[in-house]
Amino acid sequence: MAGSVGDPVSHYFDADPAVASEPGRVRLVLPDLALDLATDRGVFAREAVDAGTKLLLMESPPPPPEGDLLDLGCGYGAIAVTLGRRSPAARVWGVDVNRRAVALTAANAAAAGAANIRAVGPEEVPAEVRFDGIWSNPPVRIGKAALQALLVRWLGRLSPGGRAWLVVHKHLGADSLARWLGAEGFATERLTSRMGYRVLEVGPS
Ligand SMILES: C[S@@+](CC[C@H](N)C(=O)[O-])C[C@H]1O[C@@H](n2cnc3c(N)ncnc32)[C@H](O)[C@@H]1O
Repeated sequence: MAGSVGDPVSHYFDADPAVASEPGRVRLVLPDLALDLATDRGVFAREAVDAGTKLLLMESPPPPPEGDLLDLGCGYGAIAVTLGRRSPAARVWGVDVNRRAVALTAANAAAAGAANIRAVGPEEVPAEVRFDGIWSNPPVRIGKAALQALLVRWLGRLSPGGRAWLVVHKHLGADSLARWLGAEGFATERLTSRMGYRVLEVGPS
């Protein structure tokens, strides 16, 4: 029985989710494209595309047509595949620690005909790559210190003219995160606020 004493505890950010695979599908409908995406247990938002993720994809500006773009914490790739389809001449990196998620992003990119997506673990992105745009529904559940370290690590790789867009729910600390990013030297503005979600626009430090 799920949740029984002795069950392995599984998180969507585990490298190898303890829960058995149970493939599923979700649909993402945006004004400019619609995607059928493969999902699985042990991966974030497996039953439906997260409302925050959809808001981020609706509200953030169109991605640059070229350059390196990052979906930080890609899950099954809703953001990465959208970026890949919106900017077919860009290189889109979908990065996640969860290997089941990385495999799903690769499969979803292939199914969507987006050959410009590289779905990889964090250590597989070459150190010299700088990002012209970063999109993320970041893993707030990993804890404040780990989240801050993650954001400093990747936002520090924005190119000089690059921008990042983050979606975070206000109940999960969006406003204090925005203040903290500003104090760290990343110019941060609230692009939009809807349904309790904030979409933050972040510049390089
Ligand atoms: C809130 S989920 C968003 C997933 C997906 N982008 C979406 O919108 O459906 C955050 C993701 O960050 C990943 N993650 C957690 N820690 C990470 C890390 N250190 N580096 C990269 N990704 C990480 C999790 O595995 C999870 O897939």
